[in-house]
Amino acid sequence: MKASFSLLLSIASIILLPFSLARPDPALDIFLQCLPTHIQPSYPIFESIYTPNNSSFQSILTAYIKNRRFLTADALKPLTIVAASHESHVQATVICAKYSGLEIRIRSGGHDYEGFSYISTVPFVILDMFNLRSIDIDTANQTVWVQSGATLGELYYKISNTSKLLGFPAGVCTTLGVGGHFSGGGYGNLMRKYGLSVDNVVDAQIVDVQGRILDRKSMGEDLFWAIRGGGGASFGVILSWKVKLVPVPEKVTVFKINKTLEQGATDVVHRWQNVAHSLPEDIFIRAVPSVRKGVREGEKTVVVFFVGLFLGQTQSLIPLMNIRFTELGLQVKDCNEMSWVESTLFWADFPVGTSIDVLLNRPKEVISFSFKRKSDYTKNVIPKKGLENIWKQMINLDVKIYMQWNPYGGKMSKISESETPFPHRTGNLFKIQYLVSWGEEGNNVTNRYINGIRDFYASMASYVSSGPREAFLNYRDVDIGSISSNQTTFKDSQVYGVKYFKGNFQRLVNVKAIVDPDNFFKNEQSIPPAKYQV
Ligand SMILES: Cc1cc2nc3c(=O)[nH]c(=O)nc-3n(C[C@H](O)[C@H](O)[C@H](O)COP(=O)(O)OP(=O)(O)OC[C@H]3O[C@@H](n4cnc5c(N)ncnc54)[C@H](O)[C@@H]3O)c2cc1C
Ligand SMILES: *[C@@H]1O[C@H](CO)[C@@H](O)[C@H](O)[C@H]1NC(C)=O
Ligand SMILES: *[C@@H]1O[C@H](CO)[C@@H](O)[C@H](O)[C@H]1NC(C)=O
Ligand SMILES: *[C@@H]1O[C@H](CO)[C@@H](O)[C@H](O)[C@H]1NC(C)=O
Ligand SMILES: *[C@@H]1O[C@H](CO)[C@@H](O)[C@H](O)[C@H]1NC(C)=O
Ligand SMILES: *[C@@H]1O[C@H](CO)[C@@H](O)[C@H](O)[C@H]1NC(C)=O
Ligand SMILES: *[C@@H]1O[C@H](CO)[C@@H](O)[C@H](O)[C@H]1NC(C)=O
Ligand SMILES: *[C@@H]1O[C@H](CO)[C@@H](O)[C@H](O)[C@H]1NC(C)=O
Repeated sequence: MKASFSLLLSIASIILLPFSLARPDPALDIFLQCLPTHIQPSYPIFESIYTPNNSSFQSILTAYIKNRRFLTADALKPLTIVAASHESHVQATVICAKYSGLEIRIRSGGHDYEGFSYISTVPFVILDMFNLRSIDIDTANQTVWVQSGATLGELYYKISNTSKLLGFPAGVCTTLGVGGHFSGGGYGNLMRKYGLSVDNVVDAQIVDVQGRILDRKSMGEDLFWAIRGGGGASFGVILSWKVKLVPVPEKVTVFKINKTLEQGATDVVHRWQNVAHSLPEDIFIRAVPSVRKGVREGEKTVVVFFVGLFLGQTQSLIPLMNIRFTELGLQVKDCNEMSWVESTLFWADFPVGTSIDVLLNRPKEVISFSFKRKSDYTKNVIPKKGLENIWKQMINLDVKIYMQWNPYGGKMSKISESETPFPHRTGNLFKIQYLVSWGEEGNNVTNRYINGIRDFYASMASYVSSGPREAFLNYRDVDIGSISSNQTTFKDSQVYGVKYFKGNFQRLVNVKAIVDPDNFFKNEQSIPPAKYQV
């Protein structure tokens, strides 16, 4: 095992050598010469191209790497980055990459859990979308055209700047890019009321494999269906989305409560499983079990953190909770009333009172920690005995793990499994996200954390969905199967395809066969066209 690992490493360094020396690749010259011939002259592309000999190359590359695990010196670097500042730059990049035989990786916010938007095993170009970030709100129609490079924070800010009575159902982390987030589904704390981001998308603009810009009408309903949860990167480059805004009250209520095992966390979580998915749709309560120091020296315990959003005021929330979920013991002093946009900050862990201007921040510092995440869906209540076993596993694990349990039900149960590629609808009580994060460097540390989360995931099998053991595309996880660029077979993709998409996978394969039959838009977990069937 050890020997084969170091052998792999030395092979890797031989393969990587030409790239670390940035020796020009002939395909790159062809690509760079092609670009200016495919743009509109009034939008020159020169200023958008960063080759490795450019002094800004490294900072542009790392600005949207959100997982330190993929920042290591031996990770394959792109031959060049095109930071498109006009739609025609996106079209030219697609046409010229295809012409020169280079792969592209499309990056909006760079949060992909496995780094698929900025690393590859073959020579490639990053098509970076961060400059394309306009947000145009149509107040009369309560719709927004938002470009892929905008962040959720920018979208939330712009909405609240227009109306205090409108919001949008999307993720909790405000730096997520709209491009990747929406195309993978996009969920947040308005999910039980309004569904996913993709459930509220009404139009989109995409650059297809021929470099054409298509909208809903010209792309057709099949492709429009596919990009709403099937992952954009398999089908084209999404330039922008048109979404329908949703009503929110002027004041919402948020709260945070901790329960330790000593305070009866097991009973509270048991009850939470029974009620969180069946409470009125205006309430979303996430449960976050984690390990912390116990009262006695050297002892560890589990604390479950509950964070809630209620689309209404405290005076209505408290009596409701007293009837439906007394075990939580919610009191007026735990509650904070604020505007919806302020609640996005509360959920993103900013202190109460933080100016909403932080929603516009794009962190510039290089990411300081690595992480690995996994996901599961739960259809049955885990009995108290099971919960106790889970806590024991968490405590005994040699790495610090925590989970986020997000309740389903409400609107999620009212949308059919085939309405969008995202299939995890009715019948789910909650989704589990498993998380480990670490700041130390080195393969040994990385292996320890990754093995730790894999062991824990294995120990959860009997409590979660099976046949298939479902997973959430936006929580990308290579452990559930992947394909390599040289061995693309339908059979391999079936494994992760069915976990992410269940019965929708076949329709995604059919759409792919029509819109990108030669599989130009691909990554290790993309949708293959049917002709790769073995
Ligand atoms: C801290 C953190 C918190 C998160 N919280 C949530 C959450 O609350 N809810 C949730 O649903 N998810 C959440 N996620 C997951 C997140 O939604 C996904 O990682 C999402 O893919 C990120 O989009 P991005 O544009 O930032 O990432 P990127 O890495 O840029 O892109 C992700 C994928 O989409 C492709 N892609 C990106 N832009 C385009 C485009 N314009 N056209 C076509 N394909 C494109 C990329 O090639 C890649 O395959 C979280 C992730 C992190 C790291
Ligand atoms: C780096 O690239 C940018 C964008 O193309 C360009 O504006 C800048 O002049 C380049 N700088 C150097 C030192 O080459
Ligand atoms: C930087 O690299 C590109 C691509 O290889 C090349 O075209 C360009 O001339 C180089 N610029 C400088 C200043 O070396
Ligand atoms: C938007 O609103 C205007 C008037 O407010 C209306 O004329 C137009 O048809 C609407 N457009 C759409 C796409 O709904
Ligand atoms: C909108 O934002 C601008 C600055 O970005 C600010 O001056 C203005 O007060 C905001 N308006 C509302 C209604 O929030
Ligand atoms: C809850 O516990 C976590 C983990 O120990 C801690 O970080 C957090 O500050 C606590 N929050 C509250 C509201 O008590
Ligand atoms: C990594 O692990 C191997 C095998 O367990 C060990 O021999 C080596 O010393 C470790 N390296 C570091 C830097 O800890
Ligand atoms: C395919 O690529 C992998 C590395 O990504 C390599 O190990 C393998 O040998 C290749 N297989 C073929 C058939 O070229």
